[in-house]
Amino acid sequence: MSRSPGRRPERLPAFSYRAVSRGLFRRSTESILCCDRIPLPRLAEHFGTPLYVYSASMIRERVRGFERAFRSADHTVCYSVKANSSLGILRLLAAMGAGFDVVSGGELERVLQVSSRAARKVVFSGVGKTPDEIEAALRAGILLFNVESESELSALAGCAARLKRVARLALRVNPDVPAKTHPYISTGLHQHKFGIPLVEARSLYARASGSKHLKIRGVSVHIGSQITDVEPFRLAMERVAELVNQLRADGHRIDYVDAGGGLGIDYEPTEVTDFEEYVADYADALLRPLRGLKVHLLLEPGRLLVGPAGALVTRVLYRKTNDGKKFAVVDAAMNDLLRPALYDAYHEIAAVQLLDAADSTETIDVVGPVCETGDFFARDRKLPATREGDLLAILDAGAYGMSLASNYNTRPRPAEVLVDGKSAKLVRRRESVADLLRPEN
Ligand code: LLP
Repeated sequence: MSRSPGRRPERLPAFSYRAVSRGLFRRSTESILCCDRIPLPRLAEHFGTPLYVYSASMIRERVRGFERAFRSADHTVCYSVKANSSLGILRLLAAMGAGFDVVSGGELERVLQVSSRAARKVVFSGVGKTPDEIEAALRAGILLFNVESESELSALAGCAARLKRVARLALRVNPDVPAKTHPYISTGLHQHKFGIPLVEARSLYARASGSKHLKIRGVSVHIGSQITDVEPFRLAMERVAELVNQLRADGHRIDYVDAGGGLGIDYEPTEVTDFEEYVADYADALLRPLRGLKVHLLLEPGRLLVGPAGALVTRVLYRKTNDGKKFAVVDAAMNDLLRPALYDAYHEIAAVQLLDAADSTETIDVVGPVCETGDFFARDRKLPATREGDLLAILDAGAYGMSLASNYNTRPRPAEVLVDGKSAKLVRRRESVADLLRPEN
């Protein structure tokens, strides 16, 4: 008795409606949105709103599907921690044997907290690694530094020499490949700050080979995020494969190719992709150019694994009408989920309780309480008629939701709940205002 909130899901839906009968003669039915089998109203009652709710089973399912697509190749999935860095989710992924892609000392610390052994499967990316961060990663014995500039290479060599350690590294190259995505999250063009231009890569590899504290191990690339067309990935990988051949001819040891992350998800209800086929196409785009090269492939998916597995549950505080325009003011805001404000991103919104009898809809803006016009979740959206006190679920919020949340307007960040089978575990309690004021007192 379940149906998806307005669309056919890619796989088993993490969030789907279940019908409940109401009334003395049970004539009227109501549909309640559940995470797996747990009704969201129950979670909202218990943990309050706004509330991030994640489905462990969906994350596991997506990880397994992704792994299956690459089963013919030697590979390691290094989940991109920035997508959702909740310890509860990192623990789940570490238990499945995942490695991790980190971009800061803080993210590394999170990984070490959930599994000290996971360090051996950590890759460290980012254009601005500080000496302290480099030192922490060297001490932890991570798998690979993805180095993004000549200056960073010197810093890494200096730090490794001081600690009398050896840093394994790949250079992150910039393949100059356009990716069809939001300009803020496209990273693979020369005009972007990321990586080293392909034409400069060989001389920098030669320089790296001169230091006994540096060990060249691979080539890395990442062209952007929320990319749903696999062709740019194929093109980037063709360029990387060519470079691998050149580097080997130059005498370098290239064991790893790190393909980065970036495979997107369906946010719009009209977009329906079969997950299995989609990841198979992606795998083909990456693996075909690498055929015969005998490299170990590192993959850094983030959003793809956790995005559709999370929702932000929020309550309608007030309704108002300004000159005929309708607004639902909810208790979540841009500080809790920044994507619509930052990228004008679309997130599907589902009513948590749906009366089948009264299926009336209205066109409305769903907005938060923050003092900015950019604080919206949906504009002119057709939604089932909502009343004050109703719950709404903002879908596909498992990636870059909580990890991008802030305390703007001195708003404590939401709690996070991980639903696993019949249990719903609070993996992060709601912040209090006292938490926010503590560093200032
Ligand atoms: N690897 C590197 C080096 C990255 O920079 C990123 C994302 C990933 C992997 C993971 O990408 P994914 O598979 O999740 O697309 N805040 C934006 C997304 C920023 C992505 C930054 N880098 C958003 O909400 O859309």
